[in-house]
Amino acid sequence: MYTAEMRESIAKVEASRQRRLQERHPSMTPEERQDVLKKFHPDYVEAAMRSLRIGPNKGGKTPNELADVLEARPLIDPRAFDLSRVDLETDVLIIGGGGAGASAALMARENGARVLLVTKLRFGDANTMMAQGGIQAADKENDSPAHHYLDVIGGGRFVNFPDLVEALVMDAPEVIAWLERLGMMFEKTPTGEMVTIHGGGTSRKRMHYARDYSGAEIMRTLRDEVRNHPDIRIVEFAPAIELVLNTRGECAGAILQNLETGERLLVKAKTTIIATGGSGRLHYQNFPTTNHYGATADGLVLAYRVGAKLAFIDTMQYHPTGAAYPEQILGQLVTEKVRGLGAQVCNVDGEQFVYPLETRDVEAAAFIRECLERKRGIQTPTGQWGVWLDSPLIDVIHGTGTVAKELPAMVRQYKRFGIDMAKEPILVYPTLHYQNGGIAIKADCSTDVPNLFVAGEASGGVHGRNRLMGNSLLDVCVFGRRAGVAAAARAKEWKDGAALSLEHVVRWNQARAEAGLTDERTAPVILPEYTRKVR
Ligand code: FUM
Repeated sequence: MYTAEMRESIAKVEASRQRRLQERHPSMTPEERQDVLKKFHPDYVEAAMRSLRIGPNKGGKTPNELADVLEARPLIDPRAFDLSRVDLETDVLIIGGGGAGASAALMARENGARVLLVTKLRFGDANTMMAQGGIQAADKENDSPAHHYLDVIGGGRFVNFPDLVEALVMDAPEVIAWLERLGMMFEKTPTGEMVTIHGGGTSRKRMHYARDYSGAEIMRTLRDEVRNHPDIRIVEFAPAIELVLNTRGECAGAILQNLETGERLLVKAKTTIIATGGSGRLHYQNFPTTNHYGATADGLVLAYRVGAKLAFIDTMQYHPTGAAYPEQILGQLVTEKVRGLGAQVCNVDGEQFVYPLETRDVEAAAFIRECLERKRGIQTPTGQWGVWLDSPLIDVIHGTGTVAKELPAMVRQYKRFGIDMAKEPILVYPTLHYQNGGIAIKADCSTDVPNLFVAGEASGGVHGRNRLMGNSLLDVCVFGRRAGVAAAARAKEWKDGAALSLEHVVRWNQARAEAGLTDERTAPVILPEYTRKVR
């Protein structure tokens, strides 16, 4: 599968392998890290951002693609929509069927609420399902939530919301125990102890995992549990296209759209949880993405229109190791676990140019510099840049068969294209992976809008400007659970007597007109557009 030029470069990677094993890793000073970020991380490309013209973050810097959907026209005509015919009624409405939505559903139910979970595609079609490497929790003797806290804050460039970080790290050990009680199959030693490894930016080995399909295993566990509750109602293929408020200004439900028939359904809810995930399918700066098909920022759009503030939306995560070759899997995730197990990163000459476990933002920026400035990456026949991830090193360090045992999904992915990653390095380049920010929340997942809660990747604040590996699967469980508890409690205090309203949509359209926004773009996007327009 590799070209003759690639083989020539691979020979250099092989020739330097034993020497590199003995060498100290390259290191950077804090100033050098800052420098490589500013010059090469996509977040710092000024032309890729603009100021929002309307809404609670007016004037705030936002990636162009996200600004386009945040400022767009709603799909609903507020004057024509009939709010008197309610199709579904519930205590807690959960929008989104990934890890956060499922965790919220379980806890809301456990706390006595009637729960309705609605999802754009199938229940489980979410970034949670696609996460590979693991879930962090400080539950070993040499570790503590305080160590975990410092790692999260350092990784986030010291701007994270501290109370959210505290919630994340303090709940983490209980989340691992909870998942295990529900049936999750974590990797364990023969004596039954959970195995943990490092991720980028971690000071302790606290990454718990299930081979290289940790997210799929978590989603399997949570989805089974939700499905085993006959009284949690699930509606699939029904994206939310607008939130509904009441005349007191509280969130009071949502309007769904049947993906097949286009029919619109009105859901009345005492409390609503947005758990719609991220926005990788907006393909910021034309990057490929690891994200699932439905990751189009829908939750951000809906919450923004009803007045919820967003936090850190000018920062996205570019996972350093997206597949760069072969073309068919461009941008797909090559888990950080590969580097966690010891694989080093090499340039065209087989030399290490960066410590393999820098935080993701620095690691990705260093890859981009090596390729675009120093021209010491490898170019594929179609012009895609990449650097080598020396995966065979894992078997050299831990013994033959480790790659096959620890990374079975990844091995299979490459085998389909005739590449044996236990024997040959693989080519990687940064890929759009995660929305570091989102809708601003408090530690109980509440927002600026009464009765509206948010959990998971749609929320913003906990990861600051850069998330560490394994804190996303943790985030969806910690804050999904917290949102479920808080939304159920709030639903108990809820009082009727306020009519449903779409006045916020009327006001939104006015604000658009006043800002001179006349384009016909609508949002939420629902599904990404990949077809070429025929002229
Ligand atoms: O590299 C990975 O396996 C991704 C994990 C994460 O984003 O937490």
